[in-house]
Amino acid sequence: MSNPSLLILPGDGIGPEVMAEVRKIITWFGDKRGITFDVSEDLVGGCAYDAHGVPLTDETMAKAQEVDAVLLGAVGGPKYDSLDFSVKPERGLLRLRKEMDLFSNLRPAQCFDALADFSSLKKNVVAGLDIMIIRELTSGVYFGEPRGIIREGNERVGINTQRYTESEIARVARSAFEMARKRSNKVCSMEKANVMESGILWREVVQEIHDAEYPDVELSHMYADAGAMQLTRWPKQFDVIVTDNLFGDLLSDLAAMLTGSLGMLPSASLGAPMANGRPKALYEPVHGSAPDIAGQEKANPCACILSFAMALRYSFDLGDEATRLEAAVEKVLADGVRTADLLNEEGVTPATTSQMGDAVVAALDASL
Ligand code: NAD
Ligand code: IPM
Ligand code: MN
Repeated sequence: MSNPSLLILPGDGIGPEVMAEVRKIITWFGDKRGITFDVSEDLVGGCAYDAHGVPLTDETMAKAQEVDAVLLGAVGGPKYDSLDFSVKPERGLLRLRKEMDLFSNLRPAQCFDALADFSSLKKNVVAGLDIMIIRELTSGVYFGEPRGIIREGNERVGINTQRYTESEIARVARSAFEMARKRSNKVCSMEKANVMESGILWREVVQEIHDAEYPDVELSHMYADAGAMQLTRWPKQFDVIVTDNLFGDLLSDLAAMLTGSLGMLPSASLGAPMANGRPKALYEPVHGSAPDIAGQEKANPCACILSFAMALRYSFDLGDEATRLEAAVEKVLADGVRTADLLNEEGVTPATTSQMGDAVVAALDASL
């Protein structure tokens, strides 16, 4: 049987820097565990625009459709801010998500013990936190039509449309209920049914899918603004949160700070099962290209490394190896190895991106 295939798209800014550390981990799994991937690498985002005039070529898109999993770093940066909207780096990522139909975006927020002191919230609020935000990723206001900037009389109008079909809500709801059954059997769905029709439909459909197919799962509904407040007040009340594309974008960045740093949050974007029964999948850190620290060896590679752990679990059925990798990251943090984003003491020299990656490899070695 051929090796599983992995397409790596490092992207822009700190993307290539954190991906270099993931490459070390991939090499380690090949050398020490006999788990080998057919790895190919390509361009996405601003670097693809520089090379080809588009943020994602049709060839790269086709490759992404064929592989077992895609691993992406980050896209974007100030260099590309003035580009036409249609060729902005972010459009490349959105095209991947849309054409691969990756409707279920898992964004776990887990507070490692070693970082409980580091969150901007009090230690008792975040210690032991382990929640899973499931963000709908291929619809909603990100993709709804009509959209654009039009002229109305003597002024311009910016238009985006929040739009959800019943089936789009149903499939992400199922994904959340399935996840809940593997965790604490509890889902909180967030929308704004008090002001948006799409929110009313969202609440109804989630409830219907629950009653018909998952009555054993505890379901609650919350307005997304109240959800944001509750996430900072007492986040441990939640286990699985399911929400739409835009609310999920905001709430997952918020949840990042519960864990100590945006540099810690991984994600998996999953679609329908392929012929081999595994979902189409793209794995990426929740953070962006971090232009303010790019090129300085300051980036925390943990989010990208933990995204690869999610790939091991969800695309390659290697849950034990995923746990091994997550434990290695946890050990490194417990040992006090910290990139700058995880430090607030003066006079402590932070670890560089590559020192952090090397420490994870050493911890993997120690796990054998
Ligand atoms: P960002 O996530 O890039 O950065 C926000 C802050 O977090 C910055 O201060 C940054 O230094 C810090 N940070 C982020 N990741 C870090 C890491 N791994 N280690 C240490 N610190 C880290 O968000 P932004 O500044 O709003 O956006 C910058 C660019 O990235 C924009 O072009 C945006 O569109 C893009 N972006 C891309 C993605 C993606 O590719 N998935 C996600 C978010 C933003
Ligand atoms: C994310 C990012 C993206 C989003 C951008 C870069 C398109 O913020 O992955 O969270 O808004 O979905
Ligand atoms: Mn975001």
